[in-house]
Amino acid sequence: MDHVPVLLEEVSNNLVSEKTRIFVDATIGGAGHSSLILHRYNNLKLIAIDADEQALEIATKRLGPFEDRIKLIRGNFRDLKMILSSIDIFSIDCVLFDLGLSTYQIKGKRGFSFNDDAFLDMRMDNRESLTAYDVVNSYSYDDLKGIMEDYGEEYKAYKIAKAIVEERGKHPIKTAKELCKIILKVKRKTGRIHPATKAFQAIRIEVNGELKNLTTGVTDAVDILTPKGRIGVISFHSLEDRIVKNIFNSSSTLRVVTKKPIQAEREEVKTNPNSRSAKFRVAEKE
Ligand SMILES: C[S@@+](CC[C@H](N)C(=O)[O-])C[C@H]1O[C@@H](n2cnc3c(N)ncnc32)[C@H](O)[C@@H]1O
Repeated sequence: MDHVPVLLEEVSNNLVSEKTRIFVDATIGGAGHSSLILHRYNNLKLIAIDADEQALEIATKRLGPFEDRIKLIRGNFRDLKMILSSIDIFSIDCVLFDLGLSTYQIKGKRGFSFNDDAFLDMRMDNRESLTAYDVVNSYSYDDLKGIMEDYGEEYKAYKIAKAIVEERGKHPIKTAKELCKIILKVKRKTGRIHPATKAFQAIRIEVNGELKNLTTGVTDAVDILTPKGRIGVISFHSLEDRIVKNIFNSSSTLRVVTKKPIQAEREEVKTNPNSRSAKFRVAEKE
């Protein structure tokens, strides 16, 4: 269950160049992008960050052959400046954010998947205290409805929030599977997308503070880019993409390289359906 990286060639070709010396992969995950980049560009050093302990283990193994050119750090990219300054790096040539989840997180029985008969966790970083269990079992009706509207754009947020509050009055909702069942009672499948997708997305965003972290991480990365340095972000839903687009377009120090986001070709979508919703935006520091 290796994670298949999306837009691999597109990232390598649009983000990195022979001049890149320090490349920061802010979401190393299974190190798919970074291992290709290390293979292709012999003169760069990689700083790899991930909040997830499992990601770091996988990346450490995979990047073993490049040991002397890499530094792997467990941390949240919202603390990018602090993480880098702790290793005496104050400016960077290139940075990649590949958002969302890795396959090992989705398949890891950590509450991210609808059928997980495991604890409703959803934390990327198990040192953080807030879990999906806490959100589902202790947030008020209004807060649950609010996050599903704001972070899931879920039109049945009120119904799902009501069903959750009713059900947890009888017993705590402990697993992702239980949560999914509750959602399915009030929302029927209509299109291609699973009825619980948006609610799960919303709860995950809340648990991991994803939109706030993205704003801080990308803003700070732009700040420390060297002239002609490049930033690339792969996002997987419209809320993330909107944030990236706004930061890029409103920055007085960036030139937007991708007027429209780069998306996966049909061939890639066929072999990796996860790439269907990926949008890759690149900008260059002036
Ligand atoms: C889609 S995966 C990255 C896959 C990677 N590009 C590859 O080729 O294997 C996203 C990764 O970002 C990490 N992540 C998400 N939000 C993060 C954050 N705020 N700080 C650090 N890592 C984060 C996740 O733990 C996950 O491992």
